[in-house]
Amino acid sequence: MMPNLWYKNAIVYCVDVEKFMDASGDGTGDFAGLADRLDHLERLGVTCIWLNPFFPSPNRDNGYDITDYYGVDPRYGTLGDFVEFMHAARDRGMRVIIDLVVNHTSTDHPWFQAARSDENSPFRDWYVWSKEKPENAHEGMVFPGVQDSIWSYDRTAKAWYLHRFYDHQADLNTANPAVREEILKIMGFWLALGVSGFRLDAVPFLIDTKGMKLEPGSFDPYSLLTEMHDFMAWRRAGAVLLAEANIPYSDAPAYFDGGDRMNMIFDFMLNQHLFLSLARGTAAPLRHTLQNRPRPDGLGQWANFLRNHDELDLGRLSIAEREEAFAALGPDASMQIYERGLRRRLAPMLEGDMSRLKLAYSLLFALPGTPVLWYGEEIGMGENLALPEREAVRTPMQWADEPNAGFSRAATANLIQPILADGDFGYQNVNVAQQVREPGSLLRSITRLVQTRRSTPEIGWGEWELVDVGRDDVLALSYSWRGARVVTVHNFSPEPVSFPLEIDGIDRFEPLLADHDAQSAILRGETLDMAGFGFCWLRCDGPRK
Ligand code: NOJ
Repeated sequence: MMPNLWYKNAIVYCVDVEKFMDASGDGTGDFAGLADRLDHLERLGVTCIWLNPFFPSPNRDNGYDITDYYGVDPRYGTLGDFVEFMHAARDRGMRVIIDLVVNHTSTDHPWFQAARSDENSPFRDWYVWSKEKPENAHEGMVFPGVQDSIWSYDRTAKAWYLHRFYDHQADLNTANPAVREEILKIMGFWLALGVSGFRLDAVPFLIDTKGMKLEPGSFDPYSLLTEMHDFMAWRRAGAVLLAEANIPYSDAPAYFDGGDRMNMIFDFMLNQHLFLSLARGTAAPLRHTLQNRPRPDGLGQWANFLRNHDELDLGRLSIAEREEAFAALGPDASMQIYERGLRRRLAPMLEGDMSRLKLAYSLLFALPGTPVLWYGEEIGMGENLALPEREAVRTPMQWADEPNAGFSRAATANLIQPILADGDFGYQNVNVAQQVREPGSLLRSITRLVQTRRSTPEIGWGEWELVDVGRDDVLALSYSWRGARVVTVHNFSPEPVSFPLEIDGIDRFEPLLADHDAQSAILRGETLDMAGFGFCWLRCDGPRK
């Protein structure tokens, strides 16, 4: 296969425009600000920017509650500003993918307003209604503890409507051909403006039958995904769909369908076991998960992440495992959310311990799949637990030890959200400007990891296997692609470890990158010495063909 599947070797960086950089000075981040700060992303080595929703929205769920799919919320600029940003990103060789949130709309969307106010409106059947309160109304909430039902009564419609998320996010009826056509039209619009694909929100709900009474066999839940993928590929070669789908591994093959449906899926299973491994100081849960992970073929690829804009969802761990992770990473009730997760950023979860942080990021770039970073992770930003729900991890970007952390020149009281200004993770201690200067900073380490990953296509492209080094605390992976081989080794334990490195067919391991600078080549069977939380990437014999 030709190495032209760009996303398999991409470095994806997620930005919430509202929180990144305010150029207009009104206290809210905007497209002009983001375009201004592309320098930072270029220096970091980002190849693809994923934009969180930026469409007109009452913003009751960080923009995941949309009122117009064909525009830019005026707070972030205009469509013209979007196009200027796209141009600037392209100039620097960066692709852009955007959130596609079509499981639901805001209840303020004109479609829902039309649907609720007239039973004969063509939009009525764009949503999912019930005359009676459904029996399962209080089951299956996505935000338990905050949301107590998935059906709400609408007085104007005199009917109940389905909302898998908050009650202001009415589910679209995705079995309706008119809705499907509109979804494609939305995709076509943004593809025409140059995006390279979509992060598809809430896929398992999008393809659910949504309680509709359907003839058995009359509805193929996955057909929507095939339709979307086909349409996208016809409109723009090389565009991708990245699924937000927290699914068991057994469902993954149907989601990928060889990459003819989803090109990438966020690996929530791996994410949760990676955190369990970090909590326990052993590689075993992660290794076990990798052993059971389906290997997507063809165009498919897993997307790996540490943290994102939501909670760290640990719902797929057993109760005992989750309790263990909570105790190690977020023991306080204020840190926990939705009976399953932690509303924390990585750096405070790892108590700002640089060795553990660098280990975690080295893993992110070394695991088979495409790495995705959440803005602010590259400098180790913290969270603000005084803010509600997931807002805790969405504070404005910390650019410098300047007023408002250099994010905005507005009066502090007018900022979209307070800047993190206290403690070890406050902007005075954690900011871009300072870490650019400091040789041992997290930003410099992550930049090196990104550069190394970009020049190591064996990881994104190659075949991989687990290497048994006879220790539970160490994860060793070997990748091969076109005759070249790379091995990465990560020590999860705080204690130094030493073991002989022996891999069939490899005589010599050359250092590529490690937690420490000086390292010499290792010959087959020689001892590899690793510091506590140490890591190393090694290139093996044989040039790439
Ligand atoms: C998943 C998004 O990641 C989350 O932030 C949002 O609240 C829900 N979908 C609803 O759109």
